[in-house]
Amino acid sequence: MKHFLSINDAPNLQSLIDLAMVYKKNPNVDREKGLNKTLGLLFFNSSLRTRLSTEIAAHNLGMQVIGFSNQQAWNLEFGEGAVMDQQNAEHIKEAAGVLSTYVDILGVRSFPELADRALDYSEPVMNGFLKHLSIPLVNLESATMHPLQSLADLMTIRELQKTAKPKVVLTWAPHPRALPQSVPNSFASCMLAAGIDLTITHPEGLELSPDFTQGATITHNQQEAFEGADFIYAKNWSSFKEYGKGTSLHSDWMVDGKKMKLSNEGRFMHCLPVRRNVVVADEVLDSPQSVVLQQAENRIFTAQAVLSKLLDHGK
Ligand code: CP
Repeated sequence: MKHFLSINDAPNLQSLIDLAMVYKKNPNVDREKGLNKTLGLLFFNSSLRTRLSTEIAAHNLGMQVIGFSNQQAWNLEFGEGAVMDQQNAEHIKEAAGVLSTYVDILGVRSFPELADRALDYSEPVMNGFLKHLSIPLVNLESATMHPLQSLADLMTIRELQKTAKPKVVLTWAPHPRALPQSVPNSFASCMLAAGIDLTITHPEGLELSPDFTQGATITHNQQEAFEGADFIYAKNWSSFKEYGKGTSLHSDWMVDGKKMKLSNEGRFMHCLPVRRNVVVADEVLDSPQSVVLQQAENRIFTAQAVLSKLLDHGK
């Protein structure tokens, strides 16, 4: 694996999950692999899990880590041929070139602006780095995808599934702020790539891009979707069609204990951070049905598997 920008970059999802399970049993088994290698982590946005789990993953492989935020660096210009007489002091060409000499693998997090769909879905930041780096690039959540999160979600489902074909439901949930489609996009494409029976439920008008959901059952009836589900994955996303809109509506879509009772003693999943009693009721999040901490823990070992494969490629 040369880069990890989307779920599609994994040549074999199951073997990546298998490796993550090996690392969960013995985090130090490949301690020599990353010796004298450095991971750079560049954050344009806040993070708790992604930053720390990826740092721990790198340490488990013997790597050094340098994490930094764009606020500690210069404002970057991504435009080809830009006349740089405004706020942006450094072009991606030099920044990526310099970082390629400083670190062996670079991870980048950059959220969308949610104003211009075509611009966000062209992934200007991630693709700008990809074009000008000469080292492997890892997506730490970009404008449209969060593949490291989805890998951890898939690992958690594999650990907990009671049947060969569990029913997994991705449900839209309310949120006070407009959020990107990156987590649901990646989750849907990961489930479908893994051959999992996926139902997506959301209010009308909040369809995701069909590029990520082709093959899933899609319904506007949340209760019907929950019936017999083995896993309920809640996430808010803003509208793809009326781009960036439609988040503060539909408070009745919050996941609560009554809805969870419709499931097959289903497990509750969320990528975190989560707004309690907006997205999901305390009674669900605090119950044994919630596996959100297991998902967060698995972020370490799935990130470790990804870094390990990228180190293999560099040999
Ligand atoms: N789930 C997730 O990516 O968490 P952070 O935003 O805290 O990294």
